Amino acid sequence: MKILVTGGLGFIGSHTTVELQNKGYEVIIIDDLSNSTEKVLDGIVAITGKRPTFEKLDLKEKSKVEDFFKRHQDIVGVIHFAASKAVGESVEKPLLYYENNIGTLVYLLKELSQKNNSSFIFSSSCTVYGQADKMPITESAPVKAAESPYGNTKQMGEEIIRDTCKVTPGINAIALRYFNPMGAHPSAEIGELPIGVPQNLVPFITQTGIGLREQLSVFGGDYPTTDGTCIRDYIHVVDLAKAHVVALERLLNGKNSENYEVFNVGTGTGSTVLEVIKSFERVSGKKLNYKIVDRRPGDITSAYADTTKANKVLGWKAESTLDEAMKSAWLWEQKVRK
Ligand code: UD1
Repeated sequence: MKILVTGGLGFIGSHTTVELQNKGYEVIIIDDLSNSTEKVLDGIVAITGKRPTFEKLDLKEKSKVEDFFKRHQDIVGVIHFAASKAVGESVEKPLLYYENNIGTLVYLLKELSQKNNSSFIFSSSCTVYGQADKMPITESAPVKAAESPYGNTKQMGEEIIRDTCKVTPGINAIALRYFNPMGAHPSAEIGELPIGVPQNLVPFITQTGIGLREQLSVFGGDYPTTDGTCIRDYIHVVDLAKAHVVALERLLNGKNSENYEVFNVGTGTGSTVLEVIKSFERVSGKKLNYKIVDRRPGDITSAYADTTKANKVLGWKAESTLDEAMKSAWLWEQKVRK
């Protein structure tokens, strides 16, 4: 069965391609290489022994998207990762984010609506919950006003898919609301590409650990948590990738109860920033140079998932511990700096 993975050379897309190929799916990747490189394909081959088909394509070019689907009428499922994801940049350049993340989604759904039966998985984010009132966060927690254009594209993306599914019985879709993805494939053949200064915690920690950055700033030590630092639900990217495969299979096998569904994808466990640092120190045997500084504007105190729905309905559960995920992130960091 042929599956299209948009943004398949990116961090989560490449890990999902590996898991799809491991299960025998034929993968075709489209990626505009704006935040990835073709070298990622070699990593995928090293792990799976199989090179996915790759086409460099910018989803903003509507006529090229139409032409692509004409040439690949046998695609039965789409996992859509291609999107911009830097929160700060989205505040500076909102239209870029709305064009990249919303325009392209609309073009894809237009193509899928012309097919009799198609399965669509959307990368959403726990950012849609904002600071939820209750922990852990269930899927029925209200969606709160977005803090950034990036967050807004995830909320709007979900709404666009929901509205489309209502009137298009041929499209079956699942939105996966990711908590905080981290780590790399344990083989260290693929991972998060180190382009620019990392905004996210874990790559900043490993880059500091290896000496590329002098010090990690811990944003805020006065939050109402056990040690004063923020709580997040860090999920190993391989576990997250596997969630995409089971979600897709639910649709391919017609097991979905509605033609648009939403699932949280996290571990169910919250960790503070200091706990994440301690995990790094355990797995690397190094002391991390860090300093507690002011809070980062827009950060929430706490977010971790209630994963009951994904556990029961998808039969999926995150398997890796924080230390296992951190170990893979550290291995990857050491490999890319060689
Ligand atoms: C961020 C985005 C979120 C997006 C996700 C994508 C914000 C407010 N949220 O989530 O919308 O979906 O990335 O991966 O930007 N931290 C430090 N020092 C650092 C970096 C982070 O202390 O140098 C802390 C943060 O304050 C936070 C935690 O580490 O408590 C995780 O931060 P980060 O990795 O940026 O993820 P989120 O903010 O949860």
